[in-house]
Amino acid sequence: MSDTGLRSQLFRRKPAAALMAEAESRSGGLKRALGALDLTLLGIGAIVGAGIFVLTGVAAARYAGPAIVLSFVVSGFACAMAALCYAEFAAMIPVAGSAYSYSYATMGELVGWIIGWDLVLEYAVGAAAVAVGWSGYLTVILHGIGIHLPVAITNAPGSVPGAIINLPALLIVMLITYVLYIGISESARLNSVIVGIKLVVIAAVIVIGAFFIRPANWSPFAPMGWSGVMKGAAVIFFAYIGFDAVSTAAEEVVDPNRDLPLGILGSLFVCTLLYILVAGVLTGMVPAHLIDVNAPLASAFVLRGMQALSGFISLGAVAGLTSVLLVLMLGQSRVFFAVSRDGLLPPAFSRIHPKYRTPYIPTTLTGFAVGITAALLPIQEIAELTNIGTLFAFVLVCLGVWILRRVEPDMKRPFRTPLVPLVPILGVVFCVYLMASLPVVTWIRFFVWLVIGLVIYFSYGRFHSKVQHDVVDQAAASGR
Ligand code: ALA
Repeated sequence: MSDTGLRSQLFRRKPAAALMAEAESRSGGLKRALGALDLTLLGIGAIVGAGIFVLTGVAAARYAGPAIVLSFVVSGFACAMAALCYAEFAAMIPVAGSAYSYSYATMGELVGWIIGWDLVLEYAVGAAAVAVGWSGYLTVILHGIGIHLPVAITNAPGSVPGAIINLPALLIVMLITYVLYIGISESARLNSVIVGIKLVVIAAVIVIGAFFIRPANWSPFAPMGWSGVMKGAAVIFFAYIGFDAVSTAAEEVVDPNRDLPLGILGSLFVCTLLYILVAGVLTGMVPAHLIDVNAPLASAFVLRGMQALSGFISLGAVAGLTSVLLVLMLGQSRVFFAVSRDGLLPPAFSRIHPKYRTPYIPTTLTGFAVGITAALLPIQEIAELTNIGTLFAFVLVCLGVWILRRVEPDMKRPFRTPLVPLVPILGVVFCVYLMASLPVVTWIRFFVWLVIGLVIYFSYGRFHSKVQHDVVDQAAASGR
């Protein structure tokens, strides 16, 4: 292929019309039944998980101290800017497939592939972090009923002396993989029940915990200054991941124009508020350096002598984390499915199981990868890698909105991001600032990941791209 040919392929966009046609044929016209409230609940179901239940402890104890509340504000602001940009794309190209589909349609094949590959960090690696959090809370529950699992089988090697493997994390991933393989999709009703439990638990932490605040614990407020606040923000950014999941329901929304932005921003707003309150209460209850980094919320109540309440919080956390895990692993297999359907990954990734009608190969592969990662790595390292990958995707989505306004000003936009280019620019600046606050080792892992992705694209995807083949076929048919 000539240089010009290669360049035109790398920037060739997948026609938005093709995306919509695929969505139609796939869904057979899904029932449009979801409103803004349903979407907000869906978002909360996908968002509230290991971030608030586990990583708040890491971020407060190691970096930000009580100033973790400011970390939540900074991260929440970055997400709000990105969310406004997501909303424009989601309403304009309302198909399941999220950032991968938006970027393929707007910025071309190479950027699309990079985001698709990068989303593995958000979904699969993120799922591994959630599984580790799940294991931490399960251990607390079992401890409470007199079952003491050995340290050796409940921690990643190297994280504590004597640790070999995180077995509960591996087991929950295997269980979820099985559920996804046989295709028991999470019903809306189950989701509402779990969201309800999560909200009750979080409300209990805030309301009851408030009575046990000792204001002295809030000082020093920011033991490591602004850099501690930012490092904390870069870690607890994880807590916000998932609001983009709302956009994947675009095809089932009654009035996408109004409801999608409301759902995305509404769930983000509710979570930000809850997070700030929880963080304030937690650091008020326990001095920052005594916060337990494995199960901070439950342990805070144990420390203050409320065993029963701690058990209730742990049960809620285990239920809540299970639903987040399910959503993330489902998201991962869908992204693999979509990328493979476009020819950029082998066709096996989009093969449907004859009996269960699920994309069983990406589901199994995701299960293996997530299980091994969760079994062998500590939560903070996994979460930081997830965060850098997700922040990068947000940066590209923000830039995408801005670029597309310039190159395709007349495309129909049912929802318009306000104040373009200010909002996208703020989104980029805040996300890059958060990325810069992550450790060097995370950056190295991230680059290695992207390089592997580029090698795969240039040795496989580029030659099998369906969009590219269609163009070549059309050219041949027209005798050119
Ligand atoms: N935001 C999700 C969580 O905190 C990923 O578990």
